[in-house]
Amino acid sequence: MKVNNICCIGAGYVGGPTMAVIAKKNPNIKVTIVDINEERIAAWNDEDVSKLPIYEPGLAEIVAETRGKNLFFSTEIDKAINESEMIFISVNTPTKTYGKGKGMAADLKYVELCARNIAEVAKTDKIVVEKSTLPVRTAQAIKSILHNTGSDVNFHILSNPEFLAEGTAVQDLLNPDRVLIGGESEDAIESLANIYGSWVSQERILRTNVWSSELSKLTANAFLAQRISSINAISELCEHTEANVNEVARAIGMDSRIGPKFLNASIGFGGSCFQKDILNLVYIARSYGLNAVADYWEQVIILNDHQKRRFSDNLISTLYNTVSGKKIAMLGWAFKKDTNDTRESAAIYVADHLLSEQANIAVYDPKVPAKKVYGDLNYLETRSDEENKDLVSTFDDPYEATKGAHAIAIMTEWDEFKAYDWKKIYDNMKKPAFIFDGRNILDKAEMNNIGFEYSSIGK
Ligand code: UDX
Ligand code: UDX
Repeated sequence: MKVNNICCIGAGYVGGPTMAVIAKKNPNIKVTIVDINEERIAAWNDEDVSKLPIYEPGLAEIVAETRGKNLFFSTEIDKAINESEMIFISVNTPTKTYGKGKGMAADLKYVELCARNIAEVAKTDKIVVEKSTLPVRTAQAIKSILHNTGSDVNFHILSNPEFLAEGTAVQDLLNPDRVLIGGESEDAIESLANIYGSWVSQERILRTNVWSSELSKLTANAFLAQRISSINAISELCEHTEANVNEVARAIGMDSRIGPKFLNASIGFGGSCFQKDILNLVYIARSYGLNAVADYWEQVIILNDHQKRRFSDNLISTLYNTVSGKKIAMLGWAFKKDTNDTRESAAIYVADHLLSEQANIAVYDPKVPAKKVYGDLNYLETRSDEENKDLVSTFDDPYEATKGAHAIAIMTEWDEFKAYDWKKIYDNMKKPAFIFDGRNILDKAEMNNIGFEYSSIGK
């Protein structure tokens, strides 16, 4: 099928950047991104591209270049569906918070709504592409909804999981390690392969069956998260044995079978995908009665929760077993650098634990607004919104955030943190002045020279 018009449902962290790059590389295809959230669409249409709802290095430039030419943002979902030959479903699939599979299974409510919406309004044949990360065999459900419309419209379903990481989304999209397309219809697969083919070489475009494609995405995230939990487990052992986790990571990473990437010990992984996808994998394994498989992967999450808890426990015990009434400055709130996304960020859980010990938390993050910080804490429902408001303050300036603090906790590896005037920060803090470096980004000797009591992960 020749594709002249693409529609993407879901203008989020995945849909937005992916479609912007597809539009940039395919100037002859009209790409329309739709979303039920009017505020989000209005932000995508803001004349000032620094106000886009999603911060990703390089994204604003591409949107400025393509928007209004062949890239459009709209809330007219039915119209966009009708006008396109290919529809991407890129809506969120959060972990279920109710009913069967609560806390484990992916909530497919929004995906199903999209499929029903497409089934209702489509008058011509469509290729429907699953972009959201979905449990293996979801395509079966989408297919069944689409094929039971009673009309004679034909639908082809493809799975095309996204492997971009936030913070590097544009680079990952421009130079992907691979593009994965799962499907039944060869014709439909080639239609999508052609679109990627305008900038990705054919040998990097993998064609598989739908089920392999769906499961590969969950598996990739599970393997990546497992590496972090593995090195984080070793970090705790290092702290008890005088081994240094950075040295261990370097030593094992030079083994070409292991490789150097994703071995940074941390306060624990965050983000919208790892936890959700592994829980989902565990749930699927259990639903097939594969308990040993489920337990194996569940341990990756258990270790990650342990790592976050360990960090806050260590902070409290170092501050003479109490943080009550003490000001703790948190540098970074995002789940990693170069993004304004805070979903599942370790900072949220560390802050929550410290707040339960009656600490006063001062937050500075270069890209995360105050509204998000409070929203993340209120969502946990550990205490009232008013109490969070009382105990937590946010700052636009790191020097103000750290003024009068008993301790600094580094939660995100923002580059700017390394370049601060740490002597000035030290002078304005309570003494002894503690730093808990959850990202191992500062130099211990330098910090000790200034006078800080410095501790990091795995050393
Ligand atoms: C989402 C999923 O979380 C992830 O599993 C998948 O791989 C890609 O899509 P992300 O883009 O980061 O990731 O989610 P989010 O930023 O929340 O964007 C989803 C968008 O879909 C939101 O803007 C939401 O308003 C929109 N949406 C949701 C719809 O337009 N219609 C719906 O029915 C539901
Ligand atoms: C991840 C996958 O990398 C991507 O392929 C998939 O499509 C979506 O999920 P993302 O969540 O955006 O991407 O970020 P990623 O760079 O993988 O980082 C996830 C978390 O792991 C972050 O909190 C990060 O700080 C942490 N991390 C990463 C570590 O703690 N140590 C590392 O060595 C690497």
